[in-house]
Amino acid sequence: MRVALYQNNPVFGEIERNLDEAVNAVAGREFDLLVLPELFATGYQFKTVGEAVTMGDQAGAGLTFERLRILSREKDAVVVYGFPERHGMKCFNSALAILPDASYFLYQKTHLFDTEKGIFSPGETGFFTFTFRGIRLGMMICFDWRFPESARKLALAGAQIICHPSNLILPHCPDAMITRALENNVFTVTADRVGKESRSGHELQFIGSSRIISPGGMILAQLGQDDVGYLSAEINPADAENKKITPRNDIFQDRRPEYY
Ligand code: ACM
Repeated sequence: MRVALYQNNPVFGEIERNLDEAVNAVAGREFDLLVLPELFATGYQFKTVGEAVTMGDQAGAGLTFERLRILSREKDAVVVYGFPERHGMKCFNSALAILPDASYFLYQKTHLFDTEKGIFSPGETGFFTFTFRGIRLGMMICFDWRFPESARKLALAGAQIICHPSNLILPHCPDAMITRALENNVFTVTADRVGKESRSGHELQFIGSSRIISPGGMILAQLGQDDVGYLSAEINPADAENKKITPRNDIFQDRRPEYY
C-alpha cells in the first residue's frame, strides 16, 4: 500500500485557503492512506476556548470534513487529519480518520502540550485501532509521542501503522519516532507543519521534518524543516506483524508487565 502525508504551512484562521492548498497538493497523487497535520486547516494558537469552539467543527460535520470525505471517496483511501473538535462549549484537539464509505473514527488528543491546556479539554477517547481492508491503523497526536505508552497501547491493540498528525515545536520528536517504531515494530507516519505562527505577541516556530518510518526504524521518506510538500512511501503493513527480532526474542511475548 502507499502511505502519504502533506506537510503544510497554514495561515491562522484561513480555513478555506489552507484546506484548498492541501487538497490541491494531493489531487494528482495516488495513495491508500493520507495523513495531514494536527489542526491543519485552522492553525495552532487559539487565544481563547471560545475562538477554538467558533473555528471548530463537530466530528463528522463541517466544511473540512465534507471536502476530505469527498477526497477519501475519490482516492479510495483513508484520510486522517487534525482539527479542533467543537463539543458544546468545550473543544478537543482531535484527529479524524475518514474511510471511503464516509464512515469515520475520532481520536481526541490525550496529552495536551503547554498552552493547549488553557484551550482544549483532555481527550476522552483513549487509544484504539480500526481496520481498513484488513490493515489495522491507530492514531495519536503530536505531543502524545513524549509518552511511550501512547504508541505501545496502539501497538498492543494491533496497530500496524500509527498515524501521527503533528504541529511539532520541541526538537526531539522526529528522532524519538524512530524509537517508537522500533520498540513496537510498527510503521509510523508523522505529518507535521512548518513556519512561524505569531498570535498575541507569542511566536512559535514549527520544525517540519515529517517522516514515514518502518518497523525496523528505517526512515523511508522525510521532508526538511522548511519544506512544504507531499511525501509518500510504498509499504507492506504485514511487516509490522512479526515481533520477533532474534530466534529467541519476540518483543511483545518477552514483555514482563508484572515487573513494570
Ligand atoms: C504539540 O503537541 N503540538 C507540540
